[in-house]
Amino acid sequence: MAQKGYFITFEGTDGAGKSTHLKTAQAMLEARGYKTLALREPGGTSLGEAIRHLVLNPAYTDTMPETELLLMCAARAQLVREVIEPALQEGMAVLCDRFADSTIAYQGYGRGLDLTGIEQVLQVATGGLQPDRTILLDVNPDLIVHRRKAVRDRIEEEDLSFQKKVRQGFRSIAARDTKRVRLLDANRDVDAVRQDIEHIIKEDIE
Ligand code: TMP
Repeated sequence: MAQKGYFITFEGTDGAGKSTHLKTAQAMLEARGYKTLALREPGGTSLGEAIRHLVLNPAYTDTMPETELLLMCAARAQLVREVIEPALQEGMAVLCDRFADSTIAYQGYGRGLDLTGIEQVLQVATGGLQPDRTILLDVNPDLIVHRRKAVRDRIEEEDLSFQKKVRQGFRSIAARDTKRVRLLDANRDVDAVRQDIEHIIKEDIE
């Protein structure tokens, strides 16, 4: 029988260490015999990367929150159908740096768009696809100023109060969906967080 696909997403505010932990998780899944695919959002397809270039471009300071929502979801609609679903059908492990929870946290809690409307757009974008597991790397935005990149995109440029609203958004999602989302304190050192992630994946796939 073909191996069942495994869809895991990594979420958190900017500077939480998602890409580092995603790479570790990928190596771990490969060591356990999975073919893996690591993706990022917005992006992951050629159309999606073009959308990423538009939506994160600091030149477009006048981007409306609704436009931001639709561009994020347009990239996701393409990624789900072109890449994620076919890979899961083949039994691969798909690791995604951000997914639908980022839209709820950033465009909903951060920008203040109506959450019910967002859910409807997300349903169109994902076709109802949900991750098997979501790792939420929770950091206190006050403590991560030093971890933030030197060159920031349009959304990373937002101030601390925006980052705090986004964090609250992620924490609310985790509180509502304790079955899917594991909230990890990512203010700890990298090794401690890595061990937790290894433990979670081990439980999921064995
Ligand atoms: P990254 O820096 O983690 O690659 O993410 C790109 C930026 O896009 C980050 O600031 C978060 C933002 N974003 C949203 O605002 N909504 C979304 O749905 C996604 C996927 C990302």
